[in-house]
This record gives sequence, structure tokens and C-alpha cells, in this order.
Amino acid sequence: MIEIGSRPGAPQDAVDLLLDCHARIRSFARLAARIAEQSGASDREVAESAARVRRYFALALPLHVADEEESVLPRLAGRDPALDAALSRMEAEHEGHEEDVGRLVALSGALAEDPGALPFLRGELQAVADRLVRAFDEHLRAEEEVVFPAVRKLLSSEELEAILAEVRARRRSP
Ligand SMILES: [Fe+2]
Ligand SMILES: [Fe+2]
Repeated sequence: MIEIGSRPGAPQDAVDLLLDCHARIRSFARLAARIAEQSGASDREVAESAARVRRYFALALPLHVADEEESVLPRLAGRDPALDAALSRMEAEHEGHEEDVGRLVALSGALAEDPGALPFLRGELQAVADRLVRAFDEHLRAEEEVVFPAVRKLLSSEELEAILAEVRARRRSP
């Protein structure tokens, strides 16, 4: 159950941006699973979807992990034992996702280059995508139920502004 959402009409705060990232993580993990499930897609469709999946998990997901580990975690740590446990779990799960995310980037990169390889890569792609859909669903829900509400409840408006600025700065091209 998601207890927190964007607030219609209100200006976007840092949590709104993080929630937008969560929607994209869910969507791209499912897109990866759909590439594996489809049998009637053209090579061009497979290549385009695979390129989008590769790009998201290679470039955007690491920025979201940095948002949480570098901008959120240090500001929330040490305030409450249950929250600290949730933050430790969050960090451990990020590390736990790395192997499958790396594999998904490699598989989707290979399919973006050579969509004709789908029959040979389908089984592994399906397994990796299914594991990630399940892992992210649980991980994102825990962040939305425990970590993100704590950001809005415990941090000052200055701290929220600082997180927002850091999240935006990470996405500006160098
Ligand atoms: Fe996370
Ligand atoms: Fe997250």
C-alpha cells in the first residue's frame, strides 16, 4: 500500500521527484519483462525498447540510488532506530540489485545492437526481468512507506530544498 503520493496543485518537492523516479523504475522493469514475453514484435520494436531499457538502467537508476544514499540517507540517519534499520536495508538492497541490473544492462544492450538475438537471450532476460520486477516492487514500497514519509515529516524545509537542488544538479549534463 502506497501511503504517499504527489500532491496535486502543490509545487514539486524532493519527494515528488523521487516518486516520479519510482514510477519510471517500475515501468522500465516491466518493459524489460515485456520484451522477453513478446513473440510478435518486429526487430525494430525490440531494438528500440531494449535501447530504452539499457539507457534507463545504465544512466538514470544510478542517479536515483545516489539521491537516496547521498542526499536522503545522511540527513535522516541517527534519528530513530526503526528508521535507521530501514535505511540500512535500503542501502543493502541497492547493492543486492547491482548484479541483476548489470546483467539487464548487458542483455538489453545486446538486443539493442542485435534484436535478432532475442530467441537466444529471451530465457535469461525473462528471469532477470522477473527477479527485478519483484525486488523493485518490494524495495520501492518500503521506501514509500517508511523513508519518504520520514523525509517530509522530520526534515526542515531548508533540508528539503537542499535535497531538491542536489537531485536536480545530478541530472544536469556536465
Ligand atoms: Fe532505493
Ligand atoms: Fe527509491
